[in-house]
Amino acid sequence: MKKDLFILAIETSCDETSVAIVKNGYQEIASVIMSQSEIHNKYGGVVPEIASRNHEMNITIALEELVLKSGLLIKDVDAIAVTHGPGLIGSLLVGLMAAKTLSFLNDIPIVPVHHIAGHIYASNLEKPMQFPLLTLVVSGGHTELIIMQEDYSFQKIGATLDDAVGEAYDKVARLLEVGYPGGPIIDQMAKKGEDTYDLPLPLDDKSYNFSFSGLKSAVSNLINNEKQRKKEIRKNDLATSFQNRVVTILVKKTMRALEEHQIEYLVLAGGVAANKQLRKELKKQCQENNIELSIPNFEHCTDNATMIGAAAFFAYNLGHSQNNFKAKSVIDLNDKPTKK
Ligand code: KG4
Ligand code: ZN
Repeated sequence: MKKDLFILAIETSCDETSVAIVKNGYQEIASVIMSQSEIHNKYGGVVPEIASRNHEMNITIALEELVLKSGLLIKDVDAIAVTHGPGLIGSLLVGLMAAKTLSFLNDIPIVPVHHIAGHIYASNLEKPMQFPLLTLVVSGGHTELIIMQEDYSFQKIGATLDDAVGEAYDKVARLLEVGYPGGPIIDQMAKKGEDTYDLPLPLDDKSYNFSFSGLKSAVSNLINNEKQRKKEIRKNDLATSFQNRVVTILVKKTMRALEEHQIEYLVLAGGVAANKQLRKELKKQCQENNIELSIPNFEHCTDNATMIGAAAFFAYNLGHSQNNFKAKSVIDLNDKPTKK
């Protein structure tokens, strides 16, 4: 019988300090997520310098809590997984140095994990992914359509040409002065409004690419025009109109990509996968078209270390681990999930 593999995972790429222990890639033994969103809320977005300082303060507290929660000692794990990019460099460095220190002290190998691979593998915590599959990755930094023929093989067929979809949500929330992070707030507001504003459906073409900066500018122009005409903005209606355009184009291009590539398995990944309307619409369309849909549960949609541990299991088995002494810089500025 194969020995169980316990992975300690660390994720500090943006404003969540998160650590977890994951068994065999799919079972979360324990996890800790320390969010900084309240701190960054007053700035209307993440301030990188403040994020790094808070990671530095929180990382040891999070690790201590993880040891208590899991009943395991760090020396008992088989590998240490850490997000190596993409993300805020100062924030990534805190997680990387924590991983390197633990690896050095306990003589445990390090597994560097691409943040987006983590988001995709969050699905494996629900049910094992089936290949070939298409994944729609929607987060604060990414909007991509990726085909996977097998574990840890990523073929990007489309991506945003400008803003990521989560970024557009956060910017529209700032324009409406409703707080940060914007996604969940706009999602709530959209439920209460009606689609009364005339906004464009962005990049409605034959490609698999997306574009959200034009839609964001349309919202900005609309707000400015209404202000000049001394008209009140119906914020909930604007949220509904914006969200309808976003969900329509995401679902339309995803369903076409599935059909054109004859793929019958879809994974929705990333922070925006928490969006209720996007989940509902994809569920409906997938049911109608006999596509199996896999969506992580809510807590594994936004940034967390468990997803990094889930991806690391496959990376480790493919031999991606590194001995601490030989490890060069593992920061990935290339922003591309590739098969090594
Ligand atoms: O994956 P994630 O936690 O961090 C990145 O890797 O970027 O995604 C964060 C993004 C933010 O832009 C946030 O506004 C968005 O996900 N988000 C949502 C929802 N929950 C989080 N967007 C739309 N609807 C939601 N319910
Ligand atoms: Zn993320």
